[in-house]
Parts: sequence; C-alpha cells; structure tokens
Amino acid sequence: MEGQNVKKELFKKYELPPLPYKLDALEPYISKDIMDVHYNGHHKGYVTTTNKLVDRLETVIDQSAGSYDIQGIVRGLTFNLNGHKLHSLYWNNMGEENKRGAPGGQIADMINKQYKSLDNFKRVLFETANSLPGTGWTTLNYDVENGNLHIMTYENHFMNQIAELPIVLILDEFEHAYYLQYKNKRADYVDAWWKLINWEDAEKRLQKAINRAGLEKK
Ligand SMILES: [Fe+2]
Repeated sequence: MEGQNVKKELFKKYELPPLPYKLDALEPYISKDIMDVHYNGHHKGYVTTTNKLVDRLETVIDQSAGSYDIQGIVRGLTFNLNGHKLHSLYWNNMGEENKRGAPGGQIADMINKQYKSLDNFKRVLFETANSLPGTGWTTLNYDVENGNLHIMTYENHFMNQIAELPIVLILDEFEHAYYLQYKNKRADYVDAWWKLINWEDAEKRLQKAINRAGLEKK
C-alpha cells in the first residue's frame, strides 16, 4: 500500500565539509601526504561512521532493531561526531600563505590584555600543547559567561570538553596529524602549526561566540 513502510529519517545526515585549500597548501609545514590521510581518511571516516551510528540509533528508536548495544552506539557517536566537529574547526583555523600572519582585531586585544603579550600567550599555549598526555587537542576557548579566554586540552575527542566554551583556536594532537612527517617530534609540529594559523578565522569564531553570549544575556 502506498504510504506504508516508508521509513522516516529521524536524524539529518552529516557531510564532510570541503577543505578551504588544496591538500598541498600547507607545505612544507604539513605535508600533502598527511593532509590526504588526515582529511580523506580520518575525517571522512568520522563522518561515515557517525552516519552509520545514526542509522543504528534510528533502528533502536523505531524498535526495528532485534538486539543492540546502546552503550556501544552512544560511545561511538560521541567519539566520531566530536571527531567530525573538531576537525571541521581545525582545517579552517589554518590557512594558505596569504591567510597567515599575526593576530589582529579583538582577539589580539584580548590576548594582550589577559596574557600580557602574544609571546606570553604563545609560551603558555605551547607548554599546554606539549604537555598533553597521549592524543587529543589543545584549544583556546571563549567563556560565554564572563568573556574569559581559556587555553584547554581535550584528551581523545571528548574528555574534558566543556559545553558553553566555544572553541576559537584548535590544534589537533592525534599522531595521525603529524607522525608521517614529524615522527615523535610533536613539539616541532606544534611550532609548525603556529605558523599556519589563520587568525582571521579565529577572530570570526570569537565574534560568533561573543554575539552568542550577547544573545544569552537578553
Ligand atoms: Fe585529526
């Protein structure tokens, strides 16, 4: 019968966002090979797996699943969906040659005010990044409650992640982000990443977070 057995999609699917530059645009700091494996392998994998898990969740919700492991589904979703979201920020936080340079705008003012100088900020950021145990991320976050900037680390894709602290700047420290080129010299990769930062993108993200904070105060 028409209309029967038409499965309604409960969740929208996720998509791999386009890279804002070519795979070789970050050379020599990050090689084309790394970018290929990282973007077309890892990030694409997070998106594909997230969508598969969303499908499985739908079978649980509409009770068409025979047996299922709800913890497995939710844990997988937490890992893969966060992986997708964080990588989407990371690509845009770096830029090809004409997008790099020193920070300006409000982010520069806030860094200078809170960390006393860009050099001091860089020192604390690098110390944080270089002390991260295992794999994860180092980030600069904006606190929508009081306007503080915070340098933070996330272990894996999700541990320590706090809601209400939107990410302004982000560094991927999973081995897949640097090992092909830097081997165990993670600090050299952190140095290289600093040279690639697209501060305009960080400023844009900061303004978005500030606007959001303004909305919440109304
Ligand atoms: Fe990554």
